[in-house]
Amino acid sequence: MKRESSRVFSSDPLPNNVLSNLLWAAAGINRRESGKRTAPTANNRQEIDVYAAMAKGLYLYEAKANLLKLIVAKDVRGMTGKQPFVKDAAVNLIYVADYAKSGAASEEDKALYAAAATGFISQNVYLYCASEGLATVVRAMIDRPALAEVMKLRPNQKIILAQSVGYPKK
Ligand SMILES: Cc1cc2nc3c(=O)[nH]c(=O)nc-3n(C[C@H](O)[C@H](O)[C@H](O)COP(=O)(O)O)c2cc1C
Repeated sequence: MKRESSRVFSSDPLPNNVLSNLLWAAAGINRRESGKRTAPTANNRQEIDVYAAMAKGLYLYEAKANLLKLIVAKDVRGMTGKQPFVKDAAVNLIYVADYAKSGAASEEDKALYAAAATGFISQNVYLYCASEGLATVVRAMIDRPALAEVMKLRPNQKIILAQSVGYPKK
């Protein structure tokens, strides 16, 4: 009932436990034996990496270890989208397909599966945010070449979507 897009964020940071639960809900491992995740992927390729841009820096979510790896030690939130509110949201998640993990599928299928997988992750985030009273919006309006450069992505990594998350502005 409460799933919705909102675009007005307070700049309050998320407590670490909320951030951890958010990332786990997004794409964490929910079956330790198989290493499978909260979101499905074609052939279990797990080709979507979740990056988190916060005031402290840009991090890569490593699901297996359940930790954040520092990628860039600066605030790149404003680069994660073309809308002014993105710089205010505590966290901007960036969903990046790593086509090196996509196997032998055609280019068209790789793109299709990556988009579908990103949709599942995004909806997990929407539902977690609805349950926790957090504001969120998934976003396609991104200057992808500029963001890819800041994120130091490899040529076979493609930014699919971003998603802002934070406390709603009171
Ligand atoms: C693929 C996709 C791209 C979107 N891109 C943007 C975006 O760049 N900026 C934005 O503010 N909202 C974006 N949205 C959010 C939609 O505008 C929003 O989901 C729609 O208006 C319906 O509102 P609701 O999510 O509250 O049901 C996007 C949604 C999807 C599914």
